[in-house]
Amino acid sequence: MKIGIIGAGHIGANAARLFVKAGHQVAICNSRGPESLDPLIEELGDNATAQLIDDVISFGDVIFISVPFGKYTELPVNGFDGKIVIDSNNYYPERDGAFPEIDEGKTTSSELLERHLGGARLVKGFNTIWFEHLKSQGDTELPLDGRRAIFIAGDDSGAKEVVAKLIEEIGFAAVDTGFLKDGGRLQQPGSPIYNQELTAEAASAVLSRTL
Ligand SMILES: NC(=O)c1ccc[n+]([C@@H]2O[C@H](COP(=O)([O-])OP(=O)(O)OC[C@H]3O[C@@H](n4cnc5c(N)ncnc54)[C@H](OP(=O)(O)O)[C@@H]3O)[C@@H](O)[C@H]2O)c1
Repeated sequence: MKIGIIGAGHIGANAARLFVKAGHQVAICNSRGPESLDPLIEELGDNATAQLIDDVISFGDVIFISVPFGKYTELPVNGFDGKIVIDSNNYYPERDGAFPEIDEGKTTSSELLERHLGGARLVKGFNTIWFEHLKSQGDTELPLDGRRAIFIAGDDSGAKEVVAKLIEEIGFAAVDTGFLKDGGRLQQPGSPIYNQELTAEAASAVLSRTL
């Protein structure tokens, strides 16, 4: 599969490493231009390129977005129609600036991103796992129940199936927290599953107590 990655930091670069290792093709960008990613591309090899953001969006069957949430309005609004988008962004007001409609509980960071990216099939995912764990805890040898959980939420079941398969291919287990509005809230900073090292089995038990 062709995966476009927007954001090449702690999460984006490690996601690129994992997707390439699983046999996918990756195009990745940051805010400073493709040349700044030369060392990463050299490390990733022939199945990865650094490109400009519009080309990354055109390239990907799936687009993985991992930027500080406060930057989301800098992202293009065009090119996402019908594309599966993974939203790994979290909202931290001290980093991102205050978004009153989120603070007042009227909406969430993922719903704002979805509204910005016209026509995207957005799946919230990879939000609750620390990048060091993303880098090291995937294990394709384990049965799904015993693997570290990566949570997903969204309103498009077909898109969630595609993202769940990608998660399994990199050695984790996808655990669905539901639709974007409410299921997405469960993945936000401060929730009972945020940054917890849970197997899929343990995650399902925590969610059944939470829901
Ligand atoms: N760190 C974690 O363990 C973790 C875990 C789960 C979720 N998250 C969430 O995932 C997101 C990324 O976190 P991170 O730790 O990977 O951040 P990071 O290391 O600071 O990386 C952010 C990346 O976003 C890029 N970027 C910023 N503005 C951009 C724009 N307008 N267009 C394209 N690229 C842009 C940056 O490029 P430049 O460097 O060129 O500016 C950088 O490559 C955040 O929302 C974070 O809350 C983080």
